[in-house]
Amino acid sequence: MTTSSLQSTANILKLTPGQLDMLAGGQGRSVRKAMEILAALGEIYGAGRMAPVASVQIAGVSYDNLGEAGLSWLEEMAAGGGKVRVLTTLNPAGMDVDNWQALGIDAVFAENQRRVIDAFASMGVMTTCSCTPYLFGNLPHYGEHIAWAESSAVCYANSVLGARSNREGGPSALAAALTGFTPLYGYHLDENRRPAITIELEAGLLKDGDSASFGALGKAIGSIMEAEGSRPVPYIRGVEQASLEQLKSFCASLATFGGAALFHMEGITPEAPLFDPPERRFTLDHAALSSARRSMTDAQPGEVDFVSLGCPHLSIAEISRLASLLEGKRVVKEFWITTARPTKLMADRLGYTRIIEASGAKFAADTCCVVAPIQGRFKVMATDSAKACYYGRAKNKFQIVFRSFDEVVAAALGETYEDTQA
Ligand code: F3S
Repeated sequence: MTTSSLQSTANILKLTPGQLDMLAGGQGRSVRKAMEILAALGEIYGAGRMAPVASVQIAGVSYDNLGEAGLSWLEEMAAGGGKVRVLTTLNPAGMDVDNWQALGIDAVFAENQRRVIDAFASMGVMTTCSCTPYLFGNLPHYGEHIAWAESSAVCYANSVLGARSNREGGPSALAAALTGFTPLYGYHLDENRRPAITIELEAGLLKDGDSASFGALGKAIGSIMEAEGSRPVPYIRGVEQASLEQLKSFCASLATFGGAALFHMEGITPEAPLFDPPERRFTLDHAALSSARRSMTDAQPGEVDFVSLGCPHLSIAEISRLASLLEGKRVVKEFWITTARPTKLMADRLGYTRIIEASGAKFAADTCCVVAPIQGRFKVMATDSAKACYYGRAKNKFQIVFRSFDEVVAAALGETYEDTQA
């Protein structure tokens, strides 16, 4: 950058002397590149200034998505002396870092994936390799500015925790980590957190609903948001209670099908009391929810050759439930349990891992059924995740059987069950 363009950017974004020094290269090559990315975003989106961030979650970790170009860029940033300045965690990789061979990952891929993780580690990133950072230590407070990538986690942080993040991409999240700042625009500002549409749920719509029901709800509401065109923030009424796992599932689905980064849910999320329900209203009834649910299945349970739970990554409560369902039984399908390494370590200590692995199911920590390189290995996947359904079809070309958590486990066991979706 020339001196005059530096000064112009500094004036537009009201950069502090320290931020200007970063932009001018005074704090190293990687920090300069990072601040250039943030300044460009700030200018494009009309940010008034940079805000300090409390934490970062970086996506774009799987070598399957990054390829050689992405890996080279990361290694260049690491070689440029970049070090993160705030708590920074990492999205899933393309393999279980410890157990990749048992999952059928080839050695060349594993070596490239290892280089990706090493590049992040050398910059001080905690290589948690999970999309649920809020389950193990990256848990921002209400109102804090953060810079998170991973759409499901951004939606959770904004909506359930009341933190403030835009939907960052991998490079902009890494840039925020290396500088400690993010440009102040979008969901960081009060005016962009206001709801624009009200979604009324028919009475009893989610009575006894499980995480898959919340996933189907996310698809139904996401479809309304997409049809509205401008991705309006929804204000949702009629959900009487929602567990962490149900909200985790809902966030992943709403972000996938509606591009949502934020919603308000009356009686559930912390910012809902700040607003009146908007006048533009939509009603969701049982037929709409069933239709959303059915639309995610395009194969018969008997055709399933791959079963996966853990999109987003399973919580310890879900792993406990899984252990109780699998105890003393044998699975008859390839069955991946995807979760965070820290959650897996808890499962080890609590005895759940031993029970689950004795059934023949496989833990796939650090990764998931979407970012692992498994296209072509399987034809029909059973899942309870609406997000996994979308990307299983779009990225891995799977057909999908979308069912409840317990029904998915039954599919892995080859058990017959009353098919609630038939
Ligand atoms: Fe997480 Fe992979 Fe699903 S990153 S939200 S488990 S697609």
